Amino acid sequence: MIIKRDKDKKEILGVLCSGRGTNLESIIKAVKDGGINAEIAVVVADKKDAFALKRAENAGIKAVCVDYKSFSQREDFENAIMEELKKCGVTLIILAGFMRILGKNFVREYSGRMMNIHPALLPSFVGAHAHRDALSYGVKVSGCTVHFVDEGMDTGPIIVQSAVPVKDDDTEETLAARILEEEHKIYPKAIKLYCDGRLKIDGRKVEILDE
Ligand code: GRF
Repeated sequence: MIIKRDKDKKEILGVLCSGRGTNLESIIKAVKDGGINAEIAVVVADKKDAFALKRAENAGIKAVCVDYKSFSQREDFENAIMEELKKCGVTLIILAGFMRILGKNFVREYSGRMMNIHPALLPSFVGAHAHRDALSYGVKVSGCTVHFVDEGMDTGPIIVQSAVPVKDDDTEETLAARILEEEHKIYPKAIKLYCDGRLKIDGRKVEILDE
């Protein structure tokens, strides 16, 4: 499936975050610089104190907190997020350090229209401790992956990856910092490919079409 047919139509992005939002910042910058045919309509965080909300406000982007703690059912929390995204006409969801697993209904609704970034070379080291797991496994190379979101954890079709060396004296922090530099390059790149209509999903494979 080619996931976007009308190349001239601007994508409306909704970015979901839980924390500091450095990936959000790199996407804000790339959209502002004009390289991506999209606008960021809304940033949604699941915690009031997520610094990503401040970054959105500073950039003049609508910032909404849908506080996870105020919902007793996950489905209600997800419906509240979906409502915010729909209100803003979001066409592509960007998970940027969003630390919640989204349920089947949500994922199905946005199938082929939701991306995530993971700080390891998938399918290695899925989950919340990718750097720690890469270090304790002893790999010599790690990196980051942008992928479409499916119903599994970090299992969706891979769009772009970038490899980073692992050094003998790396700590979780130094490895994370080296990988983060690459994240800030490949996430805007993957979003641009989508917005330019250059991605085709064929089962697990994502083909990057020529310009
Ligand atoms: C990044 O390492 C990303 O790969 C992971 O969560 C972290 C978010 O960092 N999913 P930031 O909030 O974008 O700075």
